[in-house]
Amino acid sequence: MPIMQVLVLHGPNLNLLGQREPEVYGSTTLAQINALLETEAAQLSVKIVCYQSNHEGELITAIHQAMGVFAGILINPAAYTHTSLAIRDALSGVGIPTVEVHLSNIYRRESFRHHSHIAGIAVGQVAGFGANSYRLGLQALVEHLQTLTPPQ
Ligand code: DQA
Repeated sequence: MPIMQVLVLHGPNLNLLGQREPEVYGSTTLAQINALLETEAAQLSVKIVCYQSNHEGELITAIHQAMGVFAGILINPAAYTHTSLAIRDALSGVGIPTVEVHLSNIYRRESFRHHSHIAGIAVGQVAGFGANSYRLGLQALVEHLQTLTPPQ
């Protein structure tokens, strides 16, 4: 059976992780998060492709291009979580099972971060565990995908 592939999408400003508000987001860089996910993916026997963009349209194009290639999407939509119907529509349009992750617990922060446009179409959400949110989200996504297509 071909190896399962998961697309990891990072939204705007996440390229600044490490230097960006470390009291909120921690000191782990995006490269370190991607490396952590590579290690986790190897343990889960899946392949990941990581992509960061500061542009809504580029994230949407990446979601469209995931069709037929990726079994699941792990996404931190960053500020687009709270604003982007277009990213939500792209994810529901392609119908690829998606897990939403956040470094911070968005529900303990400003009220404008309490609503996620993505949560309603996601398999689930992991928030508040720093870089570990990504690792836990990848585990949850892969286990979910395996229930859809159990190994032969
Ligand atoms: C974030 C939370 C968002 O509210 C914020 O805009 C981000 C990062 C997080 O990972 O905690 O950029 O998605």
